[in-house]
Amino acid sequence: MGSSNTPIQTEVIQSIKEHGYWVGNVSQLWGTKSIKLLERCDILLKPLKEELKKSRLNNLVGNAGLISRENENRIIYQAGLEQSILEIAHQILGIEPGYDGAELRISKAAPEGEKRDNSGTKTRHFDIEEGGQGHSTLKIIVYLNDVGINNGPFTFINEDGSEKPITGEKETVIFANTGKYEHYGAPLINGIRETLQLSIHTNSPYAEFCVIYLHSLRLVRRMTIGLTDYQKRVASWRRRFPYLFIPVMYHIPFTNFRPGSWTNRKR
Ligand SMILES: [Fe+2]
Repeated sequence: MGSSNTPIQTEVIQSIKEHGYWVGNVSQLWGTKSIKLLERCDILLKPLKEELKKSRLNNLVGNAGLISRENENRIIYQAGLEQSILEIAHQILGIEPGYDGAELRISKAAPEGEKRDNSGTKTRHFDIEEGGQGHSTLKIIVYLNDVGINNGPFTFINEDGSEKPITGEKETVIFANTGKYEHYGAPLINGIRETLQLSIHTNSPYAEFCVIYLHSLRLVRRMTIGLTDYQKRVASWRRRFPYLFIPVMYHIPFTNFRPGSWTNRKR
């Protein structure tokens, strides 16, 4: 890792340390790669949007396992392995990061007359650190459409308990310490919300059971071709865990988000 930070790294680190999150634009994190990244996300979003229209569910996820299966999605997978981002994560976590891959999430408002969707990540929670060793987890959320107050802004709970809904146009990026600070995706009142989410944990010895979106080493190898040893190590932190632990969802395209992947807990 370089010893001196770039201005954008300094800005992100300071903001996350001070407020728990940073908000910016995709070009600040990924520069010229942003265009291809967004293009590829749009391609994957199409079938997901069609499925959401027909679905009784209000939220669908193109999960990390699914995304990692196609070589064309490497640009999406590798977004969270960008060297400058890992350096930011490393400095905030104080320990080598472990990357959990990318996923696409889309949500719609509950049909009229039905109860608003308060399931899962739509209520206040901390992102879980598997193994519970006291390290934090970080999340990068990219808005893939304009997100206003009515279509499910990522809502951050400030230290004083007040809520900060983060609205923004397409291409807005939120980099947040979601392990340390409570947050939720506000239930939608109307419209839809499309996001790319990148999850970063720590590359530390973990508890024996890890159930969140495991990647097989085969997929990780394929997704990290051409990257540095450091980036490969960050991506393959799950190597300690047998493939058998991977839930069935890993193999089903566009399975919905399900229990067990989050927790409502107090620190
Ligand atoms: Fe979360």
